[in-house]
Amino acid sequence: MRALVTEGRSRRWVVAEVPPPDIGPHEVLVEVVAAGLNRADLLMREGSYVPTSADWNVPLNRVGFEMAGRVRTVGPRVPGTGSGFGSGFGPGQLVMAQTGGACAELVAVDHRLLLPVPEAVTATEAAGLPSALLTEYDALTEIARIRPADRVLITGATSGVGLVGVQLARALGAGTVIATTRSAAKTELLRSLGADRVIDTSTTGLTEALGPDAYDVCLDHVGGVQVADLMGAAATSARIVQIGRLGGDRTELDLELLAARRLRLIGTTFRGREADELHTLVAHLRTALPGLLSDVRAVIDSVRAFTAPEDAAERLTQPGLTGKVVLRIA
Ligand SMILES: NC(=O)c1ccc[n+]([C@@H]2O[C@H](COP(=O)([O-])OP(=O)(O)OC[C@H]3O[C@@H](n4cnc5c(N)ncnc54)[C@H](OP(=O)(O)O)[C@@H]3O)[C@@H](O)[C@H]2O)c1
Repeated sequence: MRALVTEGRSRRWVVAEVPPPDIGPHEVLVEVVAAGLNRADLLMREGSYVPTSADWNVPLNRVGFEMAGRVRTVGPRVPGTGSGFGSGFGPGQLVMAQTGGACAELVAVDHRLLLPVPEAVTATEAAGLPSALLTEYDALTEIARIRPADRVLITGATSGVGLVGVQLARALGAGTVIATTRSAAKTELLRSLGADRVIDTSTTGLTEALGPDAYDVCLDHVGGVQVADLMGAAATSARIVQIGRLGGDRTELDLELLAARRLRLIGTTFRGREADELHTLVAHLRTALPGLLSDVRAVIDSVRAFTAPEDAAERLTQPGLTGKVVLRIA
């Protein structure tokens, strides 16, 4: 089968012939229709992101973290585990998942990581959803424990994950959603997805724009020096979930402010998570999904050919990027 791989020292992405995956007892073989690309694919290519075995079950030169496709076969039933055809997935069904080496014609995925794709959602849209849904749902519910009417600040809100975060915050009952971008041209999109207020951080700082006591929960995708700034706008006992570091991974923090406002600054990543924890998160999301997916959609920047991966990689670095770059595989 064909798969996207990072080639040798050039680190270029090329489509190569690789052996098809073996299907383990808990696994489902999926014919990939489309795969979503992420900033993490670029970080992995340059060597600054190294997944661990719990989230990556293929050679490290394989590309892709998420996909949508049709179930081809389901692995043998394991007594007492609920796998096999008892997993609830059958041949031909459209599914999506966050899984290693997703940019390939076939992937073998543990059925406990699969999410069903609702009828109204196309495979192209679904390919861009799993990573963002898992990241932002986990951050808002398990980590930040969002409460009805909480005011939610989402930084780097036009990133692939941030766009889903804005919609999820709304769908999960946020009172106010504040979103940040550095591009005035993306303001209308953020408003159309549910942001009540959009701040252009290329022209103003967050403390300056919002003042103190402006939010209860923050999903931070920017990091860097902006973390110190966003702490100034936090309410007492605000929960700040540090998700991405688009703006850098170092900053100085005012610990006096952190203590005085009793802020909680919590980091998160999927690297190194135990499989059980991922299965539980997916199970929660499966229950919540039918209600959520009527309110949450993937914003697709562009759909690119599987056979022109460098073109897709270049798009991921361009300032105009808005939403997901998706590779069409079948
Ligand atoms: N912790 C986790 O589990 C997890 C999971 C998924 C993603 N992430 C992280 O979340 C971040 C977003 O990932 P993604 O794949 O969704 O990104 P993406 O779609 O590639 O994000 C691109 C957008 O981010 C904004 N941006 C880029 N550089 C920036 C900077 N220096 N400062 C502020 N904004 C900047 C730009 O929007 P504007 O032009 O509107 O400013 C750009 O269009 C990444 O850091 C990624 O590693 C973490």
